Amino acid sequence: MGVRVADRRVILVTGAARGVGAETARALASRGHHVLVNYRVKRTRAESLVAEIQERGGVATAIGADITQPRSLSALVARVSELTGGLDALVLNASGGLERGADAGYPMRINRDAQVTLVEAMTPLLRPGSRVVFVTSHQAHFVGTHEVPADYGPVAASKSAGEKAIRERQAGLARKGIGVSVVSGDMIEGTMIVRLLERRDPDAVGTRRDVAPLPTVNEFASAVADEATRAGTTAISVFVGGSDYLAS
Ligand SMILES: NC(=O)c1ccc[n+]([C@@H]2O[C@H](COP(=O)([O-])OP(=O)(O)OC[C@H]3O[C@@H](n4cnc5c(N)ncnc54)[C@H](OP(=O)(O)O)[C@@H]3O)[C@@H](O)[C@H]2O)c1
Repeated sequence: MGVRVADRRVILVTGAARGVGAETARALASRGHHVLVNYRVKRTRAESLVAEIQERGGVATAIGADITQPRSLSALVARVSELTGGLDALVLNASGGLERGADAGYPMRINRDAQVTLVEAMTPLLRPGSRVVFVTSHQAHFVGTHEVPADYGPVAASKSAGEKAIRERQAGLARKGIGVSVVSGDMIEGTMIVRLLERRDPDAVGTRRDVAPLPTVNEFASAVADEATRAGTTAISVFVGGSDYLAS
């Protein structure tokens, strides 16, 4: 599989047991990197993903942690340190806010506060030449300029606030040799979120399909994986899917 062992990077992908995170983990492992597969509750799925990667000759390790829980987040940092001694990329993929029963403050806690806390806690482990990748959505860039799907407003606003908070740390990270990439996706065909939105607000999904074919999970994950291994500290923004967000 993939690259020479000397080039193997250690990459933590949060929320990697399913969806975009799992596909990103597969893409990175297929390129020869050691992927740390973080999951919150989907332990069995994370372990079968790790087994699948290992069967193909790749390297992966599952690590459970709820990034919104300070003790769990600290345990994640300690586990990464103990397992690998350092990180070459941190992919901030885990996201939430549409969960049944989530309180009104939860979207900001997971999509902004937990992301910032995780970056700050992981900074001592991020080696010079490493990269932080914030995964977000076009819907987050539509806040204030376009309509977003019914019920999705607080999630979009929190993803937007999370991106802003990470960007505010970009210069400080660059001084430590750590680059920042933001990868924004249109609605991604076939994902749980889009299936859920389609039930709640079919027109919103139809509108995106009218703009451009929705990207596949593979296309989006591949763009995220490309950023996780990008060299240098130049801040990068990548958009996957319809480009009408630019005309805001
Ligand atoms: N789907 C889309 O159409 C779309 C479009 C553009 C951008 N994106 C972005 O792509 C990323 C992934 O999206 P997705 O559709 O794959 O999402 P998803 O299917 O809802 O998966 C979310 C992931 O986050 C994890 N997670 C949730 N809360 C967590 C917590 N407190 N601690 C640790 N992990 C947690 C979940 O883990 P468990 O399963 O273990 O709970 C799950 O693996 C997100 O950042 C999203 O904004 C998605």
